[in-house]
Amino acid sequence: MAFEKLNNMPTSILVIVMFILASSPNLVFSSHNFPIAKRNCNDICGGIPIPFPFGTTSECYISQEFWVTCKHTATSGGPQKLFWWDTNIEITRISLDGQMTLLQSISRDCYNRNGSRSSPSITAWIKLTDYYFTVSNTANKFTIVGCDAYAFVSGERLGRNFTTGCTAMCSSEDDMTEGECTGVGCCQTPIPRDVWKIEVELKSYSNYTYVSDFNRCGYGFVAEESAFKFSKDNLTNLADVESIPMVVDWAIGNSTCQEAQRNATSYACISANSECYKPINSVGYRCRCEDGFEGNPYLAHGCIDIDECATKIGNNCTKNEYCNNTQGGYTCSCPKNYDGDGIGEDGCKLASKEQNMRVAFILIGTASGIIALLLAITLLYMELKRRSQRKTKQRFFLQNGGHVLQEKLARREASPEMVTIFSSSELEKATSNFGNSMIIGRGGFGTVYKGVLADRRIVAIKRSIRVDPTQIEQFINEVVVLSQINHRNVVRLLGCCLETDVPLLVYEFVTNGTLSSHLHNEAKARALDWSMRLKIAAETAGVLSYLHSSASTPIIHRDVKSDNILLDHTFTAKVSDFGASKLVPIDLVQPSTIVQGTFGYLDPEYMQTNQLTEKSDVYSFGVVLLELVTGRRALSFDRPVKEKNLANYFLSVLKQGLLFEIIDENIVGLGNREQIYAVCKLAKECLNVRGEDRPSMKEVAMELEGLILGGKHSWARSIENEEEMETLIGVRSSVGYDSICRDHIAMPNNGGR
Ligand SMILES: *[C@@H]1O[C@H](CO)[C@@H](O)[C@H](O)[C@H]1NC(C)=O
Ligand SMILES: *[C@@H]1O[C@H](CO)[C@@H](O)[C@H](O)[C@H]1NC(C)=O
Ligand SMILES: *[C@@H]1O[C@H](CO)[C@@H](O)[C@H](O)[C@H]1NC(C)=O
Ligand SMILES: *[C@@H]1O[C@H](CO)[C@@H](O)[C@H](O)[C@H]1NC(C)=O
Ligand SMILES: *[C@@H]1O[C@H](CO)[C@@H](O)[C@H](O)[C@H]1NC(C)=O
Ligand SMILES: *[C@@H]1O[C@H](CO)[C@@H](O)[C@H](O)[C@H]1NC(C)=O
Ligand SMILES: *[C@@H]1O[C@H](CO)[C@@H](O)[C@H](O)[C@H]1NC(C)=O
Ligand SMILES: *[C@@H]1O[C@H](CO)[C@@H](O)[C@H](O)[C@H]1NC(C)=O
Repeated sequence: MAFEKLNNMPTSILVIVMFILASSPNLVFSSHNFPIAKRNCNDICGGIPIPFPFGTTSECYISQEFWVTCKHTATSGGPQKLFWWDTNIEITRISLDGQMTLLQSISRDCYNRNGSRSSPSITAWIKLTDYYFTVSNTANKFTIVGCDAYAFVSGERLGRNFTTGCTAMCSSEDDMTEGECTGVGCCQTPIPRDVWKIEVELKSYSNYTYVSDFNRCGYGFVAEESAFKFSKDNLTNLADVESIPMVVDWAIGNSTCQEAQRNATSYACISANSECYKPINSVGYRCRCEDGFEGNPYLAHGCIDIDECATKIGNNCTKNEYCNNTQGGYTCSCPKNYDGDGIGEDGCKLASKEQNMRVAFILIGTASGIIALLLAITLLYMELKRRSQRKTKQRFFLQNGGHVLQEKLARREASPEMVTIFSSSELEKATSNFGNSMIIGRGGFGTVYKGVLADRRIVAIKRSIRVDPTQIEQFINEVVVLSQINHRNVVRLLGCCLETDVPLLVYEFVTNGTLSSHLHNEAKARALDWSMRLKIAAETAGVLSYLHSSASTPIIHRDVKSDNILLDHTFTAKVSDFGASKLVPIDLVQPSTIVQGTFGYLDPEYMQTNQLTEKSDVYSFGVVLLELVTGRRALSFDRPVKEKNLANYFLSVLKQGLLFEIIDENIVGLGNREQIYAVCKLAKECLNVRGEDRPSMKEVAMELEGLILGGKHSWARSIENEEEMETLIGVRSSVGYDSICRDHIAMPNNGGR
């Protein structure tokens, strides 16, 4: 294992190195990709290529000007060297772009300390072929080195003589600056163009006698500028250097391209895809391969197409593109599914359709990812919320005695009267989430919503008051008991929901609103005639009586009032909230709730003793009777103080015999006078301060039933005597009002309707 690892490392390094090598630009263009010389001609000498038009034999050069010879330097097998013609001028480089480099000797002039020449001065010269070869004026510089020297370079150009010169002086070695030929120890000057013959002649001002301790020689040469970099050492070490490179421009003939092209036999640019051009700084013309080709334009078929696609820098195709080499060029083409010409920086783009599809895929992918994520988060959130809601519901359910109710229900046989346990979601659905538009009543008792159950039953849902945790058992008992009251004059408790913080009680929905709303609305009150009122009173009394006497424990309503008596579409009374207030432990009920809900109806005895009995309901019912008779509210704050409390006011009015003053005009009609008296009398009895003195609900109910049937009952009989009745309605006490009273109340007994 370890060995393998060790072994792998160099391999990977090698791979990386190879990759770097492969990807690095291949800057080296091989000059041997194409033939440079004619067939069967020597194209190299001592490592130096010999491109046509140069040649070593007459078959190999274009003309004799381009004759070169390849010779061994020493007689016995020294290295081969290339020479211009059969001279000793050595060629070190020939390039097809019109230059060659020769080695040119250095002129020198040396003296003894006493000022006599130590050796004959050497004057270097070179004579090239006019027009074909000229000393390059761009690549070369005329340079002299020495501290007491001046030199002339002279020669011929364009058929005339020329001379130029330079002076190099110095008095101390320290004067000289490395690399600078500014006349101190070294002087440099350019030469004119088109020079084909040069001669460098050195002179001295004072035979180096003043500088003889460090410099006794002067040197001069025309040389490739880049080949010589001045150093003060050169004052001495140039003595050992015989020659220095010089660049020569070469061109074909002395005619222009146009002139040359006229003579096809002598025109040199014979290769296909070659072209003729005029050299910048010499006469004649040269040839070159057209763009996209390389090779030797002077040879037939010398220019060869460059395979730009073979190297990365050869072409501009982007990495997506397919590079196709063509004659003299290349094309970058886009693979299938790609658009564009491929050339330029844009390169290949995915075909718009393809790209659109990809973009669409990416977008769809991203979008669906996001959607899925959101969905997942939402689902998770909803699940968590659902769980917490379920937990909360469960908590409330237990807190509100749900399990107690369940146990109770389990013990009973299923019956239609059985209380239903509603789920909170069921009721939420029924009431549009307990929306404001579904509220049908609000008060101290809580809020009542109208709801439509899934089975299309219309219900009233009452959100009552929080249950005292210690009284849960009792609360549940009440719910069970109340739900079993199946009386036509009771608003049925259908069930409850215990999953909310405050239990919700679900009642049957009664269409026509409360008795209170009818009595205290002018138009509705007019429609509610005496017989209807009597019927409502009788029904209410009947059901209260029924419940007071029912079962083991009497069910006391506790909150009898016109607000709690509902009317259905046939004006049948339906007592609501039956015992509901008893469901709320009295000590938990805030005083304000009582005052708001029931003040005006409250049994004064109960207020003192805090003992709630059936007789409390009787008292409250008495007030309801007064409401029916007078049309006034049990408590009216907009009336004078003495009239505020209806019960008190009634009793005081009764004492004063002014009863007629408060009888509702709407009920005064034919033949009901006695009934009204009777009801007033009955109400008076009900309002007795002592509970014991009040009749029982049963008696009240029977009395009212009796009145409806027209028969005389004990109570009616007891007010049989006229005297008492007159006392009751104050006929005696106020004569002035008597007629009014009689007009209004004591209508003809049997006038008929
Ligand atoms: C100068 O010096 C050289 C050698 O140092 C000597 O050969 C020569 O004769 C001298 N010439 C004169 C004129 O003194
Ligand atoms: C310099 O040298 C030349 C040749 O050796 C001689 O003719 C000339 O007199 C010398 N001049 C001086 C100042 O030494
Ligand atoms: C150039 O100079 C040489 C000698 O230095 C002379 O023979 C020749 O005639 C001159 N040519 C011209 C054109 O002046
Ligand atoms: C000039 O001197 C420098 C420093 O010694 C040397 O490298 C260089 O070759 C010399 N130049 C020539 C042409 O000999
Ligand atoms: C070109 O060279 C030929 C000889 O090779 C010569 O006769 C002719 O005058 C030259 N033309 C020019 C413009 O120099
Ligand atoms: C064309 O060039 C050839 C060879 O240099 C020569 O012999 C011939 O006379 C020239 N023809 C013309 C029309 O210049
Ligand atoms: C490549 O493109 C650049 C600019 O777009 C251009 O200058 C250069 O010549 C091109 N090279 C090739 C090999 O086409
Ligand atoms: C490359 O280009 C040549 C000529 O331009 C063409 O004939 C050939 O089909 C192309 N090849 C590809 C692969 O495009």
